Amino acid sequence: MRNTESHNRESSNPKEILVWDWPTRAFHWSLALTFLGSWITAEAGLEWASTHMLLGYMTLSLLLFRILWGFVGTRHAKFSSFLVSPRVFFSSLQNLFSRRSEDHIGHGPSGGWATVLIISVLLVQAISGLFISDDIFNDGPYHGSVSDGVASFMANLHHLNFNLILCLVALHLSAIGWFQFGKNQALTKAMLLGKKTGPAVLGIQSSQTLKALSIFFVCASIIWLIVWLAPEPVYLF
Ligand code: HEM
Ligand code: HEM
Repeated sequence: MRNTESHNRESSNPKEILVWDWPTRAFHWSLALTFLGSWITAEAGLEWASTHMLLGYMTLSLLLFRILWGFVGTRHAKFSSFLVSPRVFFSSLQNLFSRRSEDHIGHGPSGGWATVLIISVLLVQAISGLFISDDIFNDGPYHGSVSDGVASFMANLHHLNFNLILCLVALHLSAIGWFQFGKNQALTKAMLLGKKTGPAVLGIQSSQTLKALSIFFVCASIIWLIVWLAPEPVYLF
């Protein structure tokens, strides 16, 4: 783990540089949409259950992609570029509420750990969904493969963890709002267009499109296989 790359806004010779490759940006906005869709379809009633599951599989594919991209993706998308040690993380909290602080080229220390936390809780949510049932018409693909005890544990997890996700998303949006308007750092524009102002040496040269598309194809295929290979449920009545 290392310190994140930061610079002062007045640093010499700042330019518009590419920071977020398009696969990371597409991941982010697709994740926000599949999350919103999963929430809406969970509330919308029984006839939306299969759409809910489909959106869950898309969420799983996206998360798997982002985890791999965190190891082999572009410079600022890599976990090693933004996961700082606990010491650096806690000392960065002292500056969190100060209006003037360094800009980070990729994720700052708190944004970095928040990224891992949000990915983890969404992973728990989507994986637990595979094992549960609404006890009427709709079963996750592996509901029939586990005992009633495990299925009921997963159902409680799916229910309780969702409340945690809602809290984290609210915190995420408040943090982005604070950085945007309190600290005057245009993080949302960067997540949309990929660019920030900074020294040219810190920019990335390309989005590595072919590599990203290949990895995403593999991830989506793995999730499709996992669902497709699920055993047919056995009903005893
Ligand atoms: C990140 C993705 C997901 C989110 C945000 C999500 C969210 C939710 C929420 C909020 C509920 C209502 C929970 C309750 O009222 O207790 C629910 C129910 C449900 N979800 Fe998901 N879910 C996701 C993924 C999945 C997946 C992948 C599956 C299965 C393939 C799944 C299957 C179900 C089922 C069967 C129910 C009904 C459970 C019941 O009625 O007790 N979910 N989900
Ligand atoms: C309108 C709504 C949203 C806005 C404006 C927004 C904005 C942002 C911004 C600006 C960043 C980059 C932060 C940084 O520079 O350190 C970010 C990162 C992130 N956001 Fe959001 N976000 C939104 C909704 C969501 C939702 C609903 C989720 C998940 C359910 C989410 C999950 C994430 C994740 C996982 C990252 C890390 C991205 C990565 O490195 O791959 N965001 N968001």
